[in-house]
Amino acid sequence: MRRKIIAGNWKMNPGAADFKNLCQDICSQLESEEPNCEVLICPPFPYIVSMLETAKGSALQIGAQNAYFEQKGAYTGEVSPQMLSDLSVNYVILGHSERRKYFGETDAFLRLKVDAALEVGLPVIFCCGESLEERESDSQAEVVGKQLRKALFHLSEESFAKVVIAYEPVWAIGTGKTASPQQAQEMHEFIRTLLSKNVSQKTAEACRILYGGSMKPANAAELLSQKDVDGGLIGGASLKANDFLAIVKTAG
Ligand code: PGA
Repeated sequence: MRRKIIAGNWKMNPGAADFKNLCQDICSQLESEEPNCEVLICPPFPYIVSMLETAKGSALQIGAQNAYFEQKGAYTGEVSPQMLSDLSVNYVILGHSERRKYFGETDAFLRLKVDAALEVGLPVIFCCGESLEERESDSQAEVVGKQLRKALFHLSEESFAKVVIAYEPVWAIGTGKTASPQQAQEMHEFIRTLLSKNVSQKTAEACRILYGGSMKPANAAELLSQKDVDGGLIGGASLKANDFLAIVKTAG
């Protein structure tokens, strides 16, 4: 049985004080009603330490939104997986479509980042997904298959135990347009089949595959009830405690 993950991606939204309140609200709710799923928030780098302190002793986990592929050196502005691991960060998101689009991150570059994170034992949430154009030309399977093959399929079964995949159709991110539960299930099932063919049956059964793209309380139940949907990566709705906690409740 795969344990669901509900992960909030706070992106580059400002507000240290607001974030602290948001984090506190989430922690106190998790304390009064312990969920049957993993719950994670990924704040911007400058807030990670204070969120780790706020969440200390609670079930809330803290993740990062990015990391570089080197562990140290003259790379001005970058943050290494080793640094995140030293802070005891629980996950790092890699390959988000916004990083691919605005920062030119390629599959080959992401493979290096995945390796660097796993080298220090930092679990990865690896994002994949097709654009609107690619969906309209019905090439979503080909696109996602290529993203996974180039960045992940060299990993051993043992390394894959620390990898979570997030399927995020780009046309559904921040647009209010969600993939239908059938569209999500179809892609998640496709990804799981790829895992069984390219990694192992055990990995395919154990790997959590999250859905991301305008998930909110109103559509979470249907999406999360799909057989191969093991949680959500949530942007907009993770910035409101009530919405995020409603999704957590739905997951377990
Ligand atoms: P959204 O973002 O929930 O605001 O669509 C999801 C994501 O980018 O991970």
